[in-house]
Amino acid sequence: MANNEEQSAYWNGQMGDAWVSVETYIDRMLSPLSDVAVKAADAKSGTKILDVGCGCGPTTLKLADLGAEVLGVDISQKMIDRANEHAGERSGVSFKVADAASEHYNGDYDIVFSRFGVMFFDDPVAAFNNLRSALKPGGRLNVLVWQAPVKNPWMSLPARAIEPYQPDAPAPDPKDPGPFAMADRDYTRDILTQAGFTDIEFVDVEKSINLGKDVDEVMDFQTYVGPLSRLLEVVDEATGMLAIQAVREEFGAQQTNDGINLSASALLVKATR
Ligand SMILES: C[S@@+](CC[C@H](N)C(=O)[O-])C[C@H]1O[C@@H](n2cnc3c(N)ncnc32)[C@H](O)[C@@H]1O
Repeated sequence: MANNEEQSAYWNGQMGDAWVSVETYIDRMLSPLSDVAVKAADAKSGTKILDVGCGCGPTTLKLADLGAEVLGVDISQKMIDRANEHAGERSGVSFKVADAASEHYNGDYDIVFSRFGVMFFDDPVAAFNNLRSALKPGGRLNVLVWQAPVKNPWMSLPARAIEPYQPDAPAPDPKDPGPFAMADRDYTRDILTQAGFTDIEFVDVEKSINLGKDVDEVMDFQTYVGPLSRLLEVVDEATGMLAIQAVREEFGAQQTNDGINLSASALLVKATR
């Protein structure tokens, strides 16, 4: 579908509500990964940053705390409403509901930043070309994207557990808009090159992330966000209960004295205008 309409409907619908309700959990879980991207952004007083797909604004606010002037843009009204609640009257940070792929920019940003907000474009070359236009000459792209599911057991484990309950459907193209759309480095390099970026670099960011103290806490999240939550929207109640039990058992088997921890792998993608 053209113009990111499907993603806009998705993030403005039930997923927007779900994300808002688990935002604190998500931010805690993702911080070990995003701290690497925030550090690499080298935000300080005088730095102007665009945070793309900023969601409820956790990274926008962190970058502003470091002294930068930051605009967070997101296609979801629900998430930007929450981000504005967090920001209150703070100076140096603002939020806007916008499709980052087509928004008009003035070419005055030092950094285009994102934590997992740039893998959802219908036309990634056009979108990254537009994001490049947000940067000053010499400005930097500094975005975090997911590596392949096999390197992200925290997501692939529930996906595997629910396979027997999935309705028959053609396998999606891994490069379709979605969390793993930029996992392939050659493909991403090609997109960014076509979009006019240079000095393209990939930094592996691999961390153990804490999904919760126990399986109940993990399941609270899993029923809102992720593959199980999507399955629950399309299957009958009995099938849903079986799928929930299957995911519970998989996560239960991962319990340790330090809670449930699994590895997560992202790529920090850097490039220059
Ligand atoms: C996985 S969430 C990440 C949110 C946030 N960066 C975080 O880490 O908590 C992806 C975000 O990208 C946003 N998004 C998707 N497509 C977008 C687009 N074309 N323009 C702006 N935001 C978009 C979604 O609304 C969603 O908030």
